[in-house]
Amino acid sequence: MRTTVGIIGAGPAGLLLARLLHNAGIDSVVLESRDRAYVEQRQRAGILEQGTVDVLRAAGAGERMDREGLRHDGIELRFGRRRHRVDFPALTGGRSVMVYAQTEVCKDLIALQLKEGGPLLFEAEALAVEGADSDRPAVRFRHGGREDVLECDYVVGCDGFWGVSRRAIPAESARVYERAYPFGWLGILADVAPSHDELVYARHERGFALLSMRSPSVSRLYLQVPADTDAQTWSDEHIWDELERRLETDDDWTLERGPITQKSVTPMRSFVHEPMRHGRLFLAGDAAHIVPPTGAKGLNLAVGDVATLAKALVHRLRTGSEELLDAYSDRCLRRVWQAERFSYDMTTMLHRAPGATAFEERLQLARLERIATCRAAEADLAEGYTGFPLD
Ligand code: FAD
Ligand code: DHB
Repeated sequence: MRTTVGIIGAGPAGLLLARLLHNAGIDSVVLESRDRAYVEQRQRAGILEQGTVDVLRAAGAGERMDREGLRHDGIELRFGRRRHRVDFPALTGGRSVMVYAQTEVCKDLIALQLKEGGPLLFEAEALAVEGADSDRPAVRFRHGGREDVLECDYVVGCDGFWGVSRRAIPAESARVYERAYPFGWLGILADVAPSHDELVYARHERGFALLSMRSPSVSRLYLQVPADTDAQTWSDEHIWDELERRLETDDDWTLERGPITQKSVTPMRSFVHEPMRHGRLFLAGDAAHIVPPTGAKGLNLAVGDVATLAKALVHRLRTGSEELLDAYSDRCLRRVWQAERFSYDMTTMLHRAPGATAFEERLQLARLERIATCRAAEADLAEGYTGFPLD
């Protein structure tokens, strides 16, 4: 099998890259190790930055998002039983975000790819990237019980944090920055209308809680839990009780309960692999970097990477110039490090770190107080949340 761009992974990064290349007349093949139902149902991100929304629209993948997505103009911070709303458009010159689940972005892109795009093979597991620093890179993969080779001009690893593509880069050519956190998020989906019309990020002595949503009738909520927690050890009642305690306020706000349809625990980590390129192999999305989910940056970074990479590949294939491909890694990493900083700040401001001193806990409250009372501090949060500009 032969193609111009071999793409490993059909998460948002791989699917959107295939779409952008298809729109520019460049052929690609996408290899995805899981089946279609798994990719379409894996619960993850829920918030799209303005820049992500713009890229999806321009790619012709925004129709259902524009119909069903919910535009959000702010978030609420809760601490010390008080509420503080951050007004995005007022603080950023008009920017907002969109609540539209990653599952739906993937469904839309898969449907488009199968209808109009190049091959998208499910249950096709990449085993290794070979010859990344040669002119003829290839992906060895297994599909339908057989091993095969996909020969390419370029290979893009969009295979997430646990994928194989990063391993093709020799350790001596790379630098890795990493931090694990001693807590994770227990996330639930519940068939109940969201108890607030915007997202609520709560700092509480018992730990962080987040109220989010998937639609006007489906809530998504998260609780900070120890990193090694088994979600099944938390009964539904225990989850609702804990959410209620951490989200409580001094006014008459109440949390509506409903049937929980899914629960799982996500570990939290910060990770950056530099550079994001080795020869003709490029890394994009979670394959190259991970942020803790507080602040909702992961999916948006993945979209930023492939928007930059698609432009660079199109430029190379149309003009023969390597200039944009050469700039790819540095360009992405500038935005990636801003998102790393933002996600780290949000995480450390809102979570209860095991072993934190009373002094550190008071500092957390002082940071929140600063945001609530200083417009410049609040605007900094709003700019970070609504997104760092794509180039
Ligand atoms: P993935 O989505 O991980 O896709 C990689 C794909 O590659 C997968 O389909 C995988 O099956 C496939 N693959 C792996 N190995 C191979 C192989 N060897 N061969 C072939 N295929 C392979 N981000 C936000 O922006 N906003 C949010 O609100 C947000 N909330 C989150 C909440 C949770 C609970 C979690 C877990 C994450 C959240 N994120 C959020 C992060 C976001 O989901 C990820 O950053 C995003 O999925 C990255 O997309 P990706 O395409 O790079 O990687
Ligand atoms: C969601 C996830 C996040 O990480 C976040 O900061 C906000 C919302 C969500 O899944 O809805």
